[in-house]
Amino acid sequence: MKEQLEQLLAEAIGQLKAQGTIPAEHSVNIQLDRPRDKSHGDFATNLALMLAKPAKSNPRQLAEAIVAAIPENSLLSKMDIAGPGFINFTISQDQLKGQLTAMLNSDSLNVDVAEESKTIVIDYSSPNLAKEMHVGHLRSAIIGDAVSRVCEFLGHKVIRQNHVGDWGTQFGMLLAYMEALDNQSAEYELSNLETFYKAAKQRFDESEEFADRARQLVVKLQSGDEYCLKLWNQFIDVSLSHCQDVYDRLGVKLTRDDVMAESAYNDKLPGVIEHLREKGLLTEDQGAQCVFLEEYKGKEGEPLPIIVQKKGGGYLYATTDLAAIEYRQKQLGGDHLMYFVDARQSLHFDQIFTLARKAGFVEGDIQLDHYGFGTVMGKDGKPYKSRDGGVTKLADLLDEAERRALELLQQKTTDLSEEQQKRVAEVVGISSVKYADLSKNRTSDYIFDWNHMLTFEGNTAPYLLYAYTRVNSIFDRLGDTAFDRDADIILDDERELALANQLVRFNEVLHQVQDKAMPHFLCGFLFDLAGRFSSFYEACPILNQEDEALRNSRLKLSMLTANVLKQGLELLGIPTLEKM
Ligand code: ARG
Repeated sequence: MKEQLEQLLAEAIGQLKAQGTIPAEHSVNIQLDRPRDKSHGDFATNLALMLAKPAKSNPRQLAEAIVAAIPENSLLSKMDIAGPGFINFTISQDQLKGQLTAMLNSDSLNVDVAEESKTIVIDYSSPNLAKEMHVGHLRSAIIGDAVSRVCEFLGHKVIRQNHVGDWGTQFGMLLAYMEALDNQSAEYELSNLETFYKAAKQRFDESEEFADRARQLVVKLQSGDEYCLKLWNQFIDVSLSHCQDVYDRLGVKLTRDDVMAESAYNDKLPGVIEHLREKGLLTEDQGAQCVFLEEYKGKEGEPLPIIVQKKGGGYLYATTDLAAIEYRQKQLGGDHLMYFVDARQSLHFDQIFTLARKAGFVEGDIQLDHYGFGTVMGKDGKPYKSRDGGVTKLADLLDEAERRALELLQQKTTDLSEEQQKRVAEVVGISSVKYADLSKNRTSDYIFDWNHMLTFEGNTAPYLLYAYTRVNSIFDRLGDTAFDRDADIILDDERELALANQLVRFNEVLHQVQDKAMPHFLCGFLFDLAGRFSSFYEACPILNQEDEALRNSRLKLSMLTANVLKQGLELLGIPTLEKM
């Protein structure tokens, strides 16, 4: 609907330009808002205020001219000019009903899928494998996953890339430690990567001999020594299966097939350096190979290097990312490369993107985006830590979420068996953690607070999951009783209209989520939808509505609400429950 209205406005502007009311050369950016206050219609624009100056007209007069120039259409039932020259638009009920019907009759809720499907390569999760996944790994995994799902739903080909860090110097230390253990105890110790890492690190710090061996092993590993590769493979395998457990519990769609580790690019790295040299971009600085880009200067204006090869010949994070970016366009056919990585790496990605274009690692009008995110904070305003002050392992965090969810559910009366309740608690617990994250603006830090996420009040997973079961219960009670799915939709009550107006926004919101890579728009939308449904449900009898036509219409509105809630939550990576 938004696009249709934009189209009408574009036509009106075209006409006013042709008449000379607006200077033809003035580029016009049509901006439509969704007014909070219903009396301002469904959409509003400040176009007349923006264009008054170039048009040398007063805004109200210009607003009138715009309104007059809008072509005949069936989209709008009303256009009002308000205040100094805002234009408010009201969508006609016929249009609304048509859209609701189309949504009800479509498996994909009649969203506009891309006319030209793009290949979108999405880099997310991508932890370093030396350690166990911890709370710092949460955001990339769940935000990246939600955006991937939305892009797929909107008709694009999504290729997930889990760019795990499996090739740093710390692996020497880990291999040396593995080597020092006999097989049996190695297996045992590897079952807890966190303590394994700590023990290895302690040895490394304490024993000169051990540290030497560790350094030796990295060099051997990197030169392809078979024995080292065997140890390393064993470690990586354990580490990846640990990640997979976490993804499975989180309902993150990544699998082993999506792993494209740093080490996979090893063969390509000498070529990256060669290529940069040929392009004349390489500078040697204190023995290291660097690229200095005009665009990036330090605080004092000093040139800022991108180091691509260390003095000893070793390659760096940036080198691998250059190889990866090329692979993603040239081998995977990516039209848009998305990176969900901590905001603290934004300079790195800025530099890599600029350099990749300049050096021709990518070509044409490929879109490159780093979507940074803020930090998960504790209540003390510092990055979230476990009670003992260490990093919080994700596995432990999720255990705690499930335990707390069970406590929450036990406070409610239920006809679920103990076993069923436990299963529900797993969904509610994990969903609460995910939803608390997804519902915040991606770019800000947020405070991780169990009490805020595990409650039935407010914009939370329990609230939405419960709202869904409530809609669902209508159809449970309806049982096999048929209702007329072709009945007309009636929107006479203001609550019906408010619900309908929200339902039809689904398409627009999903496109917004994709464009900005911000799932919180979808969360806000679903929360609002659940609220409107609740007002409707309280004020408008459904099952005991005697008027047959009204009953059918309300059942249809409820059904569509259920479908949108379910689909919306699924796109966030949150499964719905039939009962709670
Ligand atoms: N492993 C990196 C880290 O933990 C993140 C990798 C992100 N992806 C990339 N292509 N650089 O910081």
